[in-house]
Amino acid sequence: MSARVALVTGAGGGLGRAIALRLAKDGYAIAVLDIAQAEDTVELIERAGGTATPHSVDLRDSTVVENAFDAIGQLDVLVNNAAIYPTRPFVEVPLAEYDEVHAVNQRSYWLAAQLATRRMPATGGSIVNIASMTMHGGWADLAAYVATKGAVVALTKALARELGPREIRVNCVSPGAFPTAAEAIHPDPEAYNEFVLKHQALQRRGTPEELAAVVSFLAGPEASFVTGQTIEVNGGWVMT
Ligand SMILES: NC(=O)c1ccc[n+]([C@@H]2O[C@H](COP(=O)([O-])OP(=O)(O)OC[C@H]3O[C@@H](n4cnc5c(N)ncnc54)[C@H](O)[C@@H]3O)[C@@H](O)[C@H]2O)c1
Repeated sequence: MSARVALVTGAGGGLGRAIALRLAKDGYAIAVLDIAQAEDTVELIERAGGTATPHSVDLRDSTVVENAFDAIGQLDVLVNNAAIYPTRPFVEVPLAEYDEVHAVNQRSYWLAAQLATRRMPATGGSIVNIASMTMHGGWADLAAYVATKGAVVALTKALARELGPREIRVNCVSPGAFPTAAEAIHPDPEAYNEFVLKHQALQRRGTPEELAAVVSFLAGPEASFVTGQTIEVNGGWVMT
């Protein structure tokens, strides 16, 4: 029997890489999609004894994305994780930047979910979308990003409802603050660290591996009756 296949977008670094490594450890063959460093993640997975293929893909380009899905073939799990987060006061955001944020953070989630659904078995499959805690309380200078994250949660529910009869489960993970390249948007790392701990219940920083463990649960058979849900992984910052 061939290995189950999991595709992770934005797996060239950050949380996506940790998710790809964790799903590889769970036994999936991993398709690593990213505009950068997909090969590096594949190397790490292979060094850990797993199987993976790199796909250097700009998720804004639907033709390129579709070609990558064709090359990958049948799929069991999709994790929509890639995102961009340009910061700028709302009144100054050019429409082109708004469109770009939506192309990566939202449109690509829609497209990948559609392409994945067509390539999943007749029954069964799991989609996990990555949102953000910022969708609950907003975040200054990140309005377009925050808007896409709210849309990801709504899309998760709509797809869970529609794909339920095929036993395709669709869930969402909403991260709090994790130490990745994304933190570079905060100019003073020490002050940001203090700010994070002040808001979390747990008085330490979360690790990408802790986030990946929740994605692994939702992707896998232990969550077989869970669909349409969003799990907050934020050390008790926002409690819903
Ligand atoms: N790190 C955090 O604290 C945090 C908090 C809340 C939500 N998140 C969410 O977690 C997810 C991962 O974020 P991260 O912190 O690892 O950020 P990151 O910037 O480290 O990773 C994002 C990945 O997406 C890729 N990407 C960006 N544009 C792309 C494109 N056009 N085509 C293909 N790939 C592209 C990047 O190359 C990168 O590898 C995102 O959805 C983000 O919104 C992260």
